[in-house]
Amino acid sequence: ADAQNLAIIGGDGIGPEVVAEGLKVLEAVAGAHRFNTTAYDLGATRWQRTGEVLPDSVLAELAQADAIVLGAVGAAPGATDVPSGLLERGLLLKLRFAFDHYVNLRPSRLFPGVPTPLAESVTAGKEVDFVVVREGTEGLYCGNGGVVRQGTPAEIATEVSVNTAYGVERVVRDAFERATRRRNKITLVHKHNVLVNAGGLWRRIFESVATEYPGVTTDYLHVDAATIFLATDPARFDVVVTDNLFGDIITDLAAAVTGGIGLAASGNINPDRTFPSMFEPVHGSAPDIAGQGIADPTATILSMSLLLDHLGLAEEAARVEKAVIADIAGRTAGQRRSTTEIGDAIAAAV
Ligand code: NAD
Ligand code: IPM
Ligand code: MN
Repeated sequence: ADAQNLAIIGGDGIGPEVVAEGLKVLEAVAGAHRFNTTAYDLGATRWQRTGEVLPDSVLAELAQADAIVLGAVGAAPGATDVPSGLLERGLLLKLRFAFDHYVNLRPSRLFPGVPTPLAESVTAGKEVDFVVVREGTEGLYCGNGGVVRQGTPAEIATEVSVNTAYGVERVVRDAFERATRRRNKITLVHKHNVLVNAGGLWRRIFESVATEYPGVTTDYLHVDAATIFLATDPARFDVVVTDNLFGDIITDLAAAVTGGIGLAASGNINPDRTFPSMFEPVHGSAPDIAGQGIADPTATILSMSLLLDHLGLAEEAARVEKAVIADIAGRTAGQRRSTTEIGDAIAAAV
């Protein structure tokens, strides 16, 4: 097959550290299949040096890639040298929106041998294996709102969630399709008891699409209750479909209960394939551990499995996942391995 072109954005903090290991594994599993990688210098350092976040010319180049690999962008939550949201909105969300990544796919599996904060009684004899289909292009992430009388006691700040029938229906359909390829169970997570406008739209579309999938069992949870079940009975979930912000929040929790944020992979998918999809760990730039060589690259490596799958290399994708599962099973409590040691071990095993 022809070589595929990957655009690589290491980004900030641990981003470049974990991406290096992801690419190492990708290279190792690729065999005769060729990937051409092009590295893009984007993130806090570029902005500090040049004032640029994502030049249009770079966006146009990225659009030509077959897929994008991203580490993470953003400064420490308390930082003052980089405005909060500048890189998140100007780079990461810009890419998700520009490339119509309406399916933000976030699988969670409790792999054998993984330490979990879940009680023994919660996991005993149960399979925890679900995927959150998080809407990626709408909701509270649109930047719809504003501030008036800023800095005065009369300040009013609004963030208005945008939910279109078109946007909700396409992601709900994608989630139902995924359910048919899994265990035929789907849960809508929202909060239509309070967010009656957006919640009503999601509910009506979900129920209407459900009539086309009589073989799929449907469920609904308000997002607050969903967090209870993620901690007390995560095995009940198969496919979860939800909006952009709820999806962001519950996937950090999903990661925490299935072995930690260091294992959580994601794909920002454009199912129509009009634009390149983008693969990244769920976690951020982790400024607290950056530069120490101790970040867990597993989430990024598993994201490479999602990338391979998306690019039609299902067998290679499965090999990466298998190598990760084996590596995780061999980890022992208290063991400290460096970022590169984990990457090397998995690359050698694929
Ligand atoms: P974070 O995910 O970066 O870190 C949260 C905690 O998890 C930290 O204690 C960190 O050390 C730990 N952690 C994260 N990844 C890890 C890994 N691979 N191995 C071991 N430990 C890991 O979240 P945050 O602190 O809220 O955000 C830091 C910055 O990252 C912010 O600027 C935020 O906006 C940005 N962010 C970016 C992305 C992205 O680019 N996709 C995602 C989330 C957050
Ligand atoms: C994630 C991150 C991003 C999000 C931020 C950094 C914009 O938290 O990918 O989960 O909220 O989507
Ligand atoms: Mn997040």
